Amino acid sequence: MIPFATETCHRSRPRTPDAGLRTITLLALATAALTAADTSRGQTVFTTYCAACHGPEGAGLVGPNLTDTVFLHGDKKADIVRVLMNGVGDKGMPAWGAILPPADVDAVADFTVAMIGKNLKSPFAPGESSVTPFPKGSVAFPLLLRTFMPTLGTDAAVFAHHDHGKIIAKYSPDKGGDVKGEQKPIDGVPSAIVVTFGDGLSYCFDTVECRLLYTWSGPFMDMTHYWGAAAGGGRKSFGYVPEVIGPVWWRTSGADPMQVVGATAAKPQFTGYRKVKSVPELQWRVGETKLTLTITPGAKPGEAVCRYTTTGAAKGLVFTLPADSAGQIASDKGTRAGTTLTLSAAEAAQFTLTISPGDKPVIEAPKAKPKDDKKAKPEPVVKE
Ligand code: HEC
Repeated sequence: MIPFATETCHRSRPRTPDAGLRTITLLALATAALTAADTSRGQTVFTTYCAACHGPEGAGLVGPNLTDTVFLHGDKKADIVRVLMNGVGDKGMPAWGAILPPADVDAVADFTVAMIGKNLKSPFAPGESSVTPFPKGSVAFPLLLRTFMPTLGTDAAVFAHHDHGKIIAKYSPDKGGDVKGEQKPIDGVPSAIVVTFGDGLSYCFDTVECRLLYTWSGPFMDMTHYWGAAAGGGRKSFGYVPEVIGPVWWRTSGADPMQVVGATAAKPQFTGYRKVKSVPELQWRVGETKLTLTITPGAKPGEAVCRYTTTGAAKGLVFTLPADSAGQIASDKGTRAGTTLTLSAAEAAQFTLTISPGDKPVIEAPKAKPKDDKKAKPEPVVKE
């Protein structure tokens, strides 16, 4: 498994302290859980392995726009296959030859060739570098990242299944091995999936607890601590958790609000996600019960429409809604008594919880940042 995506531990070993892009390599690999049976192989490989850097449509993100006609390494299929097989040295383009089977390299090369000349507008203004620690998504093409995330003051009871406080040896990137001492814990959720639909809604889901942690609106995130600054590195070696930008409208609290009635195993098990018309569908199981959750933006900024499906919840579901935010949660099905929401098996098969923003944000915009920091001095790398 990949160090930072460890599903069980709040401490992790940062093996790539200098090159932000190398971290993103891992990030891209971490999206491998994706399945998309309804699209072509090339598209599936692209969405799974390439979109994290080249954008969902290939219009560029931290990797260059592949839909224009400017190709540094050649735009013929043979050139693309060569770049894919070998990667681009230290420029952040991984060598896929060692990772993907030849048939997938071939399929994604065809897919890439087919997008050349589409001239899709990159999410950045002309002349602006597409290399930015400020990733963006939209309602049509929500962006999903697997990354560390700040807890934003979420109380400890929420993280009941996390393997807190395990002692981990200190890793030295200079020495390329473990050295004396212990790894400092990272103050972040290591197993988060974050999705942004643009300014209207972003959310953070924890794949260990299999629950929504918080929602916010605004410009999404500043990844500088984690990816490094656009101009010349500057990734933090500790405390490298990205920063949420914008007001937080809802934050969960307390023990898991959802119980599968009669479930033998209480611990949820995340099984992956797929994209349905670009929108992530999160999947997990609790004992024999399979659950999916698809979150889309509602009418108001920060409003999250959470569509659940369950199979095998023979006795239904009971939600004990978090007392401090129960008023923000409405269900289209089931019986509500105070903070308890009961759904029969039939109701649980498919239901929607709408989480509305409160009168005031739970956290006022934590960080108002300039649009990009390309001209700003990169933060110094903290020496271990
Ligand atoms: C970790 C981020 C990352 C991932 C993941 C990634 N790329 Fe790249 N890619 C880059 C960067 C950065 C460059 C620019 C390299 C350079 O400056 O020469 C690049 C360059 C390329 C180029 C050459 C563009 C040119 O100008 O010639 C192609 C083609 C390409 N990538 C395709 C892909 C495909 C297909 C995948 C998925 C299998 C993929 N990339 C995954 C970061 C990434």
